[in-house]
Amino acid sequence: MPPRPVGRTVGGHTARQLLALCELVGLDTGESAEYARALTDALGPVVHRSLDLPPAVPTFLSDDHTPVEFSLSFSPGAGPFLRVLFEPSSGFGTPAESSRLGLRALHTLARRWSISTEKLDLIQDLFLPDDPRGAFTLWAALELIPGGAPRLKAYLNPAASGPDRAEATLREALHRLGHHRAYDSLPPADRLLFLALDLGGWETPRLKLYTAHHRLRASAVGALNRMTDGPSPAETEAFLYTAAGLPAGHDGLFDRRPVLACHSFTDPEADRPSGFTLHVPVRDYAHDDREVLGRAEKLLPRYGIAPDVLRDALGALTPRRLEDGVGLIAYLAMVHQQGHAPRLTAYLSSEAYRVRPPNERPTGPRPVL
Ligand code: TRP
Repeated sequence: MPPRPVGRTVGGHTARQLLALCELVGLDTGESAEYARALTDALGPVVHRSLDLPPAVPTFLSDDHTPVEFSLSFSPGAGPFLRVLFEPSSGFGTPAESSRLGLRALHTLARRWSISTEKLDLIQDLFLPDDPRGAFTLWAALELIPGGAPRLKAYLNPAASGPDRAEATLREALHRLGHHRAYDSLPPADRLLFLALDLGGWETPRLKLYTAHHRLRASAVGALNRMTDGPSPAETEAFLYTAAGLPAGHDGLFDRRPVLACHSFTDPEADRPSGFTLHVPVRDYAHDDREVLGRAEKLLPRYGIAPDVLRDALGALTPRRLEDGVGLIAYLAMVHQQGHAPRLTAYLSSEAYRVRPPNERPTGPRPVL
């Protein structure tokens, strides 16, 4: 077994943060230690890398290139779920080598909890070519539920064989997975960012497609939803306006990082998605994290959720003052899934390498008339 990472290393820093968040959401010590161990094992050799050295690779998983990002998913009437997204075997060797090792690490994780990778196995050749291109090849996420066995998700890059091949790659993957009508139900988008698969024993495993919408107008956001019985345009707009700090009655153009949507599919026979998520890259549209937290504290109670765990989570991640940086909360997301109450998710950065200084004002979306 590899030695445990110690000191100011990628593994030490992110494992300590994970343990602090586990405690906050009430996971017991034994299972938390097991989850932290699983994370550091899957990250691979990078865990031993000193944080005094530059990042091993400029991974776009997080802004400061930490290969780990946390998230808290809040539902009304239940404690939040803690999740961790990471790049398995980050930056080890060439992109081809690191993606092969990443896949091996993902299989090791799956075996650890007897999680089936069947769906990934069906399509992996499309997304892990011999010379993968683009900003990433394979990411994984663990949802750290109580009980000692997490849920596993895999994230793939539709543009792994080049951006011009993204549509054909996705169509082929969806075809193999039996979702013949999924692609044509997507809204017009600038880019297909990720294909994500729920692996193993989820109650209703989802296949998710993420779309990027550059230069979106706030007033047009309602049209991104494609699910039946999804959020009304008014609800989606209200979420976006509050998350972006845009005053009611004013339209705005998101001309920095794009707003993302995620369309989830559960029933292969259905011709529409069964879920819709709106991801707002709040870090590009706020002055600092205090301001972002203030917006989250307005949104959470609207969905019947107490905001205190989020506030405590930020404190568990870093001792820095919230007004001294921006990006600790990377995204705020509104999640609708058929059969479930709407939830909100906050994506939380590790900031292992760097804190982004507060943005210059004005920070909101560009005003439009
Ligand atoms: N860091 C990338 C981005 O900001 C990818 C990413 C990480 C992401 N976590 C995410 C995208 C959560 C959407 C939601 O786009």
